[in-house]
Amino acid sequence: MTERKKLNQKDIPLLDAIVKYNEKKPAYFCIPGHRYEKGINLRFREIVGDAIFSFDLTETPYMDDLHNAEGAIWEAEELAREVFGADDTHFLVNGTTCGNQAMILSTAFEGEKIAIPRNAHKSVLMGLILSGAEPIYLMPEISHETGLLGGITPESVETMFRNHPDCKGVFVVSPTYYGVCSDLKAIAEICHKHNAVLLVDEAHGAHCYFSDLLPKGALEQGADMCAQSIHKVTGSLTQSSMLHVKSKLVDQKCVDANLHLVQSTSPSYLLLISLDAARHDLANQGKVLISKAVELSEYVRTALKSVAGITCVGHEIVGTAGICDLDITRLTISASNLGLSGYQLKDLLFEEYNCDVELADDKNILAIVTFANTKEDMEQLLNALIAISEQYKDGMPITQHGKFPAKPELVLSPRKAYFLEKEDIEWKDAVGRIAGELIAPYPPGIPVVYPGERMSQEVWDFIEEYRISNGHFHGPADSNLDYFKVIREIK
Ligand SMILES: Cc1ncc(COP(=O)(O)O)c(C=O)c1O
Repeated sequence: MTERKKLNQKDIPLLDAIVKYNEKKPAYFCIPGHRYEKGINLRFREIVGDAIFSFDLTETPYMDDLHNAEGAIWEAEELAREVFGADDTHFLVNGTTCGNQAMILSTAFEGEKIAIPRNAHKSVLMGLILSGAEPIYLMPEISHETGLLGGITPESVETMFRNHPDCKGVFVVSPTYYGVCSDLKAIAEICHKHNAVLLVDEAHGAHCYFSDLLPKGALEQGADMCAQSIHKVTGSLTQSSMLHVKSKLVDQKCVDANLHLVQSTSPSYLLLISLDAARHDLANQGKVLISKAVELSEYVRTALKSVAGITCVGHEIVGTAGICDLDITRLTISASNLGLSGYQLKDLLFEEYNCDVELADDKNILAIVTFANTKEDMEQLLNALIAISEQYKDGMPITQHGKFPAKPELVLSPRKAYFLEKEDIEWKDAVGRIAGELIAPYPPGIPVVYPGERMSQEVWDFIEEYRISNGHFHGPADSNLDYFKVIREIK
């Protein structure tokens, strides 16, 4: 075997490999069919520019193979592994969605148990359908003050193991979309005491490894595996993520095999290069970049303290509702004291003040702040909120916030429910029936009902309120939810 050159965090090996190939620019008889830029629609080329298309290549010489990485991709993954302190790192082109699937597939097989929090992203359901594992659902605490779901407590994990000592692993989302963190260190210790693994959906947390002012990263707290949407919080392209393994309990070969199952055989090199380049920036200036994001978000959070009727969640929630820490680059802002729901506030900010925030719920909006935001962005958001505070100062506070419903009865595993025969019924008749499809208000895409669960009145009421007021769901085939798929009853 040829000796490998010493890796250096100043390098971007995948970018170098493709530049070397493009210098040669051979007559091209491989996939993709557009041959650099020549086959791309002219209008698209004019708008986007040509350069980007010559980087949309495939497993040509110099460029390695994601599914059997030995060259430039291996080097890029190795550099990322070093930055995040993992034993093994995999680049993902199907987002954290496929990272979550691979983590579940590598932990619990058909009929085996895995603990899943109720605030898990819908990709977790896909992992359960693929693996056939039996979920034991854990309910996060609820922060009544802020309307947010809190953390999964170590105590609830301990209780779960008491009832299910054969559980193979615990899956936790930390930080959540809203930046809420669970006590991963304590949960990891409990898992390991029971010879089980801790899997962390760290879709929203890759930046945490680069600032002392942010929660610690999952790997730093003992997680065995975590998946990170590098595209959500740093500078890589949409859909590019990483899966890290740091564990003696995880079979690396099994993880490799499962990644084959859930990833494309034609990975986009644009995505892969963007991961390599984002790693380069994090390795060389991560602390500076992430402290800029912290500074920008803290600027708005502090200024909002003196804006009447507007609240912004801060460190005061740490220690309540199972919340162990908070990512302060997430701005969870409410104008409910002015009579505005989160949905109304989000629309108002977009339509009248040209500020687009990530999501809304009935009480809050969520603004995600990254190092790529500017002081001007923050001023624009702040000034908009100041103006709204003045404009709605006579509004009546909204006190009623829909609370997340208790988990319904699990009748069938998600996999069994997925493959059983279904029928469409009117949504109004759904109470008492076994769900045949998922319902996840989107964003954030957190399922309220999973296939295989009996629809309770409480869950139905919760969804109905959302349907009337906002109405965008992932999961149901009928996106208006006039009809709903349930498991066909055996006569
Ligand atoms: C908590 C959580 N996990 C996983 C995902 C999926 O990540 P990706 O978009 O990288 O596939 C999301 C997406 O919003 C998410 O919010």
